[in-house]
Amino acid sequence: MQRIAFTKIAEPAQALELVSADEPTPGPGEALVRMEAATINQTDFLYVAGQYFLAPTPGDTIGSEGVGRVTAVGPDTDTALVGQRVALLATYRHGTWSTHTVAAVTDLIAVPDDGDALQLAMLAINPMTAVRLLRDHGDPKNPHRWVGQTAANSAVGEYVVKLASHLGYRTLNIVRRAAAADDVRGWGADHVVVDGPDVDREVTEALGGDRLDVAVDSVGGPASAVLGSHLRYGGTLVTYAAQSGQSPVVSQADLIGNQASLTGFWLYNWWQRTPLTRVRDEYRELVGLVADGTLSARVDRTFTLTDWRDAVDAARTPSGAGKLLFTFPHN
Ligand SMILES: NC(=O)c1ccc[n+]([C@@H]2O[C@H](COP(=O)([O-])OP(=O)(O)OC[C@H]3O[C@@H](n4cnc5c(N)ncnc54)[C@H](OP(=O)(O)O)[C@@H]3O)[C@@H](O)[C@H]2O)c1
Repeated sequence: MQRIAFTKIAEPAQALELVSADEPTPGPGEALVRMEAATINQTDFLYVAGQYFLAPTPGDTIGSEGVGRVTAVGPDTDTALVGQRVALLATYRHGTWSTHTVAAVTDLIAVPDDGDALQLAMLAINPMTAVRLLRDHGDPKNPHRWVGQTAANSAVGEYVVKLASHLGYRTLNIVRRAAAADDVRGWGADHVVVDGPDVDREVTEALGGDRLDVAVDSVGGPASAVLGSHLRYGGTLVTYAAQSGQSPVVSQADLIGNQASLTGFWLYNWWQRTPLTRVRDEYRELVGLVADGTLSARVDRTFTLTDWRDAVDAARTPSGAGKLLFTFPHN
């Protein structure tokens, strides 16, 4: 088997290497998964560079999510799992940039044989982030609520737009490029505004006197401040990344006078602090939405492990055309 191993905390080109190894043997409660596809997320590179909340151990295989098929299970483990197609949850207990990986069976969710491999490979992180952002904040029971977001053309943004549309919520979206706005409109967004000097006026016009129930932000800085200033009384700005390098902003006037809230979200915390049965139930529900095409994200390119340096280069200079993934041709 082959895998991308982490050798030291450094930039990915210096920290990673392709290594050959014997197939690992699953222990009790574990399964051996032959990988089909694994997502390449920016956080994977932050992780190897030592800039993430979690630190890898040298020798670890990199890659936080993916899809594959169980080929063997360890002792005292349900043999009915053998042959099952599964998505691997992003628990950082296994590496998915590998032709084969061993994972705890509790980190595996069954997925349908006929589902799109690339979409299922992306199941664990971004779509569940969208679910949590919309379900766990603001007033999800209000079917008419407005959801605002920055970086709306990101993969998380695409899931947010599609999930909000599925649930009947209205979305107010900020992007930083006009071409990206057309993409987001095509996914069912109610309004898309291009960031710039007129963004506040355009958001006001788009909302037509309404206010945002919740705003989800992965950019920070001025773009987040615009959404923060359009929250309803008691509304919430949820930060889940700071891609501009700036912290999210809700003004003191909005925090005090409008009783707005500013909070954060990290999927890993949700997974760690939620009972396992609920985590698994939530993922089973999500599998249905991804498998039937309700939720999807654009894919730009795929790579084989041999091309991992090209993947690192492509990730460093994003095209804006969608996600990058590894695929694993086994024959
Ligand atoms: N907290 C969590 O649990 C959690 C979960 C999932 C994802 N995330 C994070 O959420 C972010 C989005 O992930 P993704 O996979 O959806 O990303 P993605 O598909 O790669 O998209 C990146 C997006 O960020 C925009 N962007 C990048 N730099 C920007 C800047 N300086 N100012 C404004 N916009 C900028 C890009 O706009 P252009 O297309 O115009 O370049 C694009 O829309 C990442 O930082 C990821 O690590 C966090």
